[in-house]
Amino acid sequence: MKIAVVTGASSGMGREFVLQLEQYITVDEIWVIARRGERLCELQGEVGAKIRPISLDLTESESFTKYSTMLEEEKPEVSLLVNGAGFGKFGKFENIPLEDSMKMIDLNCKALVMMTELTLPYMHSGSKVIELDSLSAFQPVPYITVYGATKAFVLSYSRAMNQELAPRGIRVMSVNPGWVKTEFFEHAFTTNQSEIKYFNKIYEAKDVVATALRDLYKTNKDVSMHGALIRWQTRLVKHLPHTLVMKVWMSQQKKPKNMEQLTK
Ligand SMILES: NC(=O)c1ccc[n+]([C@@H]2O[C@H](COP(=O)([O-])OP(=O)(O)OC[C@H]3O[C@@H](n4cnc5c(N)ncnc54)[C@H](OP(=O)(O)O)[C@@H]3O)[C@@H](O)[C@H]2O)c1
Repeated sequence: MKIAVVTGASSGMGREFVLQLEQYITVDEIWVIARRGERLCELQGEVGAKIRPISLDLTESESFTKYSTMLEEEKPEVSLLVNGAGFGKFGKFENIPLEDSMKMIDLNCKALVMMTELTLPYMHSGSKVIELDSLSAFQPVPYITVYGATKAFVLSYSRAMNQELAPRGIRVMSVNPGWVKTEFFEHAFTTNQSEIKYFNKIYEAKDVVATALRDLYKTNKDVSMHGALIRWQTRLVKHLPHTLVMKVWMSQQKKPKNMEQLTK
């Protein structure tokens, strides 16, 4: 049985990957993972493949035991793994409960590594992994400090794994979007007065995912970036001292921009 596995499939970009992946691959089942099982069930009938809803909290270690048991029992061939589950908390570090910061590390880093490495034995030459990363991977980001650090981890992990897996014919690609209109922002703000106010441009999830899938199946890129502004910004911050980049970021946050568009 050929399958695709998508975490974070109950909303945002993860859900979009489920809806769009059949433009590139044919699978018998799509295993969709998130906590909200009812949202996962709603995907049934939206795509050609059978949807297998798997309700798991990926910050809980027993979730990985359940997932690996399913793999052992079904022995599927996994054509595509999308690690889309993730969250971020914005604000001064002292306003972010330490428990939330630890959960960001658990979900954005530990769960992503667990899912990748538990799935790899079921992948073959031609199989692919997408790690949902962020533009914040490329520079330190004050007031998104822990979140940005988790995303720097994902970038480093994805690119190195892509090299390690090349002899097996398996591609790993990180997807590094700028701001994307999703439920992400319903969970991100820790207080009503956020230190993060400036959102230079807000993208649509369906467009970011369309670019990611095209990059995955039609190019050899190991990093996918949607939007000329994002690609330009990434290039620029590579060449500037990070102290300067952070100063610009901090001064931008004094001028609110596009906040109202995050949820519209
Ligand atoms: N939106 C942006 O501006 C943006 C920009 C760059 C990168 N990203 C990254 O893109 C990824 C997807 O985010 P999104 O924007 O699509 O946000 P989203 O709509 O909030 O989706 C997040 C997904 O993660 C799942 N999830 C959260 N906690 C989980 C847990 N403990 N266990 C299992 N699943 C969990 C959620 O499902 P349940 O709540 O049902 O569990 C949901 O399906 C994240 O890694 C995020 O960091 C987002």
